[in-house]
Amino acid sequence: MMKIKIASSTMIVLLMSGVAWGKDDTLGQAKAVFKPVPAKPPVLKSNPATPDKVELGKMLFFDPRLSSSNLISCNTCHNVGLGGVDIQETSIGHGWQKGPRNAPTVLNAVFNIAQFWDGRAEDLAV
Ligand code: HEC
Repeated sequence: MMKIKIASSTMIVLLMSGVAWGKDDTLGQAKAVFKPVPAKPPVLKSNPATPDKVELGKMLFFDPRLSSSNLISCNTCHNVGLGGVDIQETSIGHGWQKGPRNAPTVLNAVFNIAQFWDGRAEDLAV
């Protein structure tokens, strides 16, 4: 019986806070700032995507032969299975060298207004 009393009083507290959360317009404010991710990537006029190029890009992304050690691929630091990151404080390169920066996710990077933490590249093509 006591357990039921505790549970029902907890429910009342939760319901009351639910009313307070309902008045919070965080979602409305967020919707004014953020837009949904577009369904299609932007077209690069000088280099339009084709199914063959997309397939080649996929192959190269996972190919460690692009590194001089033949051990590191893009996916080493931008692991698509981990959300496009390496879950390291800063990335590790050849010979276990620790770089100065954290690997940002590459997922949806095509929609970024600039690339890299300092925005030094305008887009993926630069
Ligand atoms: C040794 C780890 C490592 C490897 C391998 C690596 N990257 Fe990165 N990548 C990083 C780090 C660290 C940054 C951030 C650097 C900076 O901001 O100066 C980055 C940044 C990026 C960005 C910018 C993303 C953004 O949101 O600004 C893209 C795109 C990217 N890498 C693609 C690639 C591709 C494609 C490859 C393979 C050809 C690759 N990376 C290989 C560590 C790596």
